[in-house]
Amino acid sequence: MNEINLDLIDTTGEPPVTEPERQYYYIAKCRELISRKSKELGRPLYSCTTTFGCQMNARDSEKLIGILEQIGYIEKETKNPDFVLYNTCTVRENANLKVYGHLGFLKKQKEKNEHMMIALCGCMMQEETVVEKIRSSYKFVDLVFGTHNIYKLAELIYDRLTLDKPVIEILKDTDNIVEELPSERKYSFKSGVNIMFGCNNFCSYCIVPYVRGRERSRKPEDIVNEIQKLVNDGVSEIMLLGQNVNSYGKNLEEEITFAELLRRVEKIEGLKRIRFMTSHPKDLSDDLIEVMKNSKKICRQLHLPLQSGSSRILKIMNRHYDKEKYINLAEKIRREIPDISLSTDIIVGFPGETEEDFKDTLDVVNRIRFDSAYTFIYSKRTGTPAAKMDDQIPKDVIKDRFDRLLATVHEISNEQTLKHVGNTYEVLVEEINEHNNELVTGRMSNGSLVHFKGCKDLIGKIVNVKLDEAKGFYYLGTMEEI
Ligand code: SAH
Ligand code: SF4
Ligand code: F3S
Repeated sequence: MNEINLDLIDTTGEPPVTEPERQYYYIAKCRELISRKSKELGRPLYSCTTTFGCQMNARDSEKLIGILEQIGYIEKETKNPDFVLYNTCTVRENANLKVYGHLGFLKKQKEKNEHMMIALCGCMMQEETVVEKIRSSYKFVDLVFGTHNIYKLAELIYDRLTLDKPVIEILKDTDNIVEELPSERKYSFKSGVNIMFGCNNFCSYCIVPYVRGRERSRKPEDIVNEIQKLVNDGVSEIMLLGQNVNSYGKNLEEEITFAELLRRVEKIEGLKRIRFMTSHPKDLSDDLIEVMKNSKKICRQLHLPLQSGSSRILKIMNRHYDKEKYINLAEKIRREIPDISLSTDIIVGFPGETEEDFKDTLDVVNRIRFDSAYTFIYSKRTGTPAAKMDDQIPKDVIKDRFDRLLATVHEISNEQTLKHVGNTYEVLVEEINEHNNELVTGRMSNGSLVHFKGCKDLIGKIVNVKLDEAKGFYYLGTMEEI
């Protein structure tokens, strides 16, 4: 967390116009109001944040919780919080449905606790139809904001507390990147680090470019400084985050490639592990493969979304690669970095997908033998080009293909995990096992989870673990002497 003494901020004058100073002013203002309320009630005030969606949203939530804690809320999973925050995702329809379901429940909670403030933010709020629906049918929601103004949380809360009416602020897009705000990390030893925001690719099925705005890269020196601070604070593993990290740096005044950024990050002393996501196959350079191959810190894991194995469908998806190019790339990566774990995303049932197209997807899966694959049923997103395409595929056909794909993916990933049994790997211990407190859970460089006997003192440490048994999604192992 950044060291700013809120007591030194003059809250009697006008708010500063520059960021982040303006937000620190509002954090201090809100802190006064919340502290007064807490004294009135004779108890602390609690916040409860729920995060949907991807790593990007998870990182945003850490920033939001950082601001809430500075304001004076204690973040806690509780049934009756004073501030409820839903950081939403809209990549598929079912993500939206979940939020509406929760809102029904929250309405009842709010009737019992008049101090309760309900806030919604994130990708779903960038859709006009969603905000309209909340405005008209969910009037008890206090605060609605989007993906471009999360840094303004304190200012928005202040407005809500002083204006006595719901506050809704959605920005269409921004080229503003506000650095140096507080953030509360979920884990002490690992952290996500944004290297870029937004997306310019407009894959024809995807809503992300519409809700996250245009691609903006952070300056390499800001990224390196943030990581250095995290390392000084005990972090040993970082995950560099962007919708398409391989196009990092293209819009910066001083152009720089993602491979070059990795070289700079690798040099940070004390940092032990580097992960990143997501890599778009169209922009993955030989230079990146070279950097990964020679690196001692970059983890042996690459997420390389395929989406479809059919060249015809890939073209309509606007992915800018075909089946052959993807296979060649994946094979080259496996050849150059043999111990790499390759994972992917696949969509089943894109408009117009024929049995033949689907067989191409199965063919790529069988040839590349992904270590793991996330499979999704195509979800129609209003506003994207694919939503208007004729020939949406019937549900039963999709279900049949999805089941066949899942069976193939599982069989292969089970076989892939067996390869490692009997070997010893470095494991970063993450937590006490959820189901058995004599075990700890850690992660290998390739991303696999391992459970083994150990105690909480090991959390955050890297230890050697021999893999005894593969259990599908995880391993059971034995720690070797430290
Ligand atoms: N930027 C990343 C993906 C972000 S979204 C990339 O380009 O790889 C994560 C995944 O959700 C995508 O890889 C895709 O497989 C899936 N997805 C996106 N839109 C979808 C939709 N309309 N229906 C089903 N799955 C979708
Ligand atoms: Fe969506 Fe494509 Fe951008 Fe990924 S690269 S976020 S799938 S538009
Ligand atoms: Fe969802 Fe937004 Fe991420 S739509 S997948 S939370 S960028």
